[in-house]
Amino acid sequence: MKTLTIIQPDDWHVHVRSGAILKAVIAHTARQFARAIIMPNLKPPITTMEQALAYRDEILQAVPAGLNFTPLMTLYLTAATTPEEIKRVADSEYVHAFKLYPAGATTNSDAGVANVKAIYPLLEALEKHDVPLLLHGEVTDAECDIFDREKVFIETYLVDVVKNFPNLRIVFEHATTQEAVEFVQASSNKIAATITPQHLLFNRNAMLAGSIRPHYYCLPIIKREKHRVALVEAATSGNAKFFLGTDSAPHLSHLKENSCGCAGCYSAHAAIELYAEAFETENALDKLESFASFNGPDFYRLPRNTTTIILKQEPWQVPATYGTGDLSITPLKANEMLRWKIQ
Ligand code: DOR
Ligand code: ZN
Repeated sequence: MKTLTIIQPDDWHVHVRSGAILKAVIAHTARQFARAIIMPNLKPPITTMEQALAYRDEILQAVPAGLNFTPLMTLYLTAATTPEEIKRVADSEYVHAFKLYPAGATTNSDAGVANVKAIYPLLEALEKHDVPLLLHGEVTDAECDIFDREKVFIETYLVDVVKNFPNLRIVFEHATTQEAVEFVQASSNKIAATITPQHLLFNRNAMLAGSIRPHYYCLPIIKREKHRVALVEAATSGNAKFFLGTDSAPHLSHLKENSCGCAGCYSAHAAIELYAEAFETENALDKLESFASFNGPDFYRLPRNTTTIILKQEPWQVPATYGTGDLSITPLKANEMLRWKIQ
């Protein structure tokens, strides 16, 4: 039986929510990842150090005994964020970055940034204090086609941000297009990107051909095949600018199987296994460890993990749902077989 031993990976972009959903999902993340960058888009959003530390405590309380897991907290950048808060984050050992959501781009992004230019003084403070900026890179203009929103964000905002703040460290979160890959490749080593399992494994036909499959619906939306191919090439290239970020985003099943369904794919139940499938299909399993376990900590200037995980080639069937009672979360690849299993 084929096995693969790698240094324990981290998830550089995950939504674990709070309350009952947090309790239902956190073990999935904590059993495979040593650390994870926790997204701040709760209701209300995590905008202050105090909120982030309280949220961190709630997460640690929910981690089952025996699992060693470190949440890496982030703050939600708003027009009301102050340079003083940015300085506090720079000095904190628990909070690692700010997340910028364009207002209205996705789930719980109403408090996001309506005008990127207007927050340039905050980007200056992030650059000065060397705090990473995590970007949801999509424009929100109603007239802009949803499949073009990432590309247009790069042209309209990101080129200018990078020119004005050359030392600002930026993670282009959940890159979904060839244009994003090319932009990151052509930029300085201050610019990196995370890539999700769904954007490596599927193109938009998986979501839309023949029937509509809401569990593939996330934002930025899954694109056409040429973009998936560009993402796979980037992830498996060994280029240190690309690293693992699942964007696992749990929603209750009935809120996705809905006439106005929520955006977000739940992948924490099998994240490293899903990435292993994508890398294996590309004959690039030897590149999985750098993507999953080295490039992220190197970019965030954190030590690499020293523990290891073992993946075994052992087929298993993903459950239809996770959760108990009326809490039901439908995972990516529900009811389907996976080829790899973490030990
Ligand atoms: O699909 C998404 N879901 N994209 C995001 O950016 C947010 C996330 C969520 O929080 O559900
Ligand atoms: Zn996300």
